[in-house]
Amino acid sequence: MKSLRDVPRKSIPLVTFNNVSFSWPGDKQNIISKCNFSINASGLWMIIGKNGSGKSTFLKLISGVLKPNSGIVNCSVCVGMVFQNPDHQILMPNCRSELLINTNQKFSNQESNKRIKFVLNQVGLTGFENRPIHTLSGGQKQRLAIACALISEKNLVLLDEPTALLDEASQIKVLKIIKQLTTDKINPLTALWITHRQEELNYADAVAEFNNGRLSEWQKPSKFQNN
Ligand SMILES: Nc1ncnc2c1ncn2[C@@H]1O[C@H](COP(=O)(O)OP(=O)(O)O)[C@@H](O)[C@H]1O
Ligand SMILES: [Mg+2]
Repeated sequence: MKSLRDVPRKSIPLVTFNNVSFSWPGDKQNIISKCNFSINASGLWMIIGKNGSGKSTFLKLISGVLKPNSGIVNCSVCVGMVFQNPDHQILMPNCRSELLINTNQKFSNQESNKRIKFVLNQVGLTGFENRPIHTLSGGQKQRLAIACALISEKNLVLLDEPTALLDEASQIKVLKIIKQLTTDKINPLTALWITHRQEELNYADAVAEFNNGRLSEWQKPSKFQNN
């Protein structure tokens, strides 16, 4: 098995914001304010911003959980989410059953098993099919959450500070897995990674800063060193 997803055509943006503004009910100020951005290719895109600046709100606008007060959100692909705390998204008692509920029901048992094996291998959890969730480390749970996005054939994976609760070794492993997936020669993933950790930016293909409700231009990670 070479790949599960269709490769998005590069000329078509996967997601675009056009002057998007949003405020939470009761808030006078927009937390997202006339924000413009787009992602038009596979790779590892990172957004850095301070706590409370509106990064999670921004992701909810991309995924369609929230609708903007004004402006246009265009998202032409299937979006998967990986949250800061994997315990908030993993529902089932073991890896196989968690992946199974994220698998298209149309597949035979044999095909599903093949796909489960394939994605576990992709995230460095080979042979983990029957592992109970409670025996996994935080980093392993995050990699399982990534495998769930892969098996459900999401074209764009949004990761909301996925390493914030991890120790350094697990943090690096999760970063490396995503980097590997986004540089795959046959079917590279598109990932949008939110962080407030400067040291993670070195893994990115492009970095933008979220500040005052807006996203800066995409820049090379080196631009953000020693800031
Ligand atoms: N569910 C919510 N209801 C009302 N206000 C919210 C909600 N979630 C976030 N906010 C407000 O939006 C602001 C930005 O939150 P958030 O997008 O989570 O920031 P970040 O992810 O950058 O830390 C917060 O200061 C908070 O007041
Ligand atoms: Mg957040």
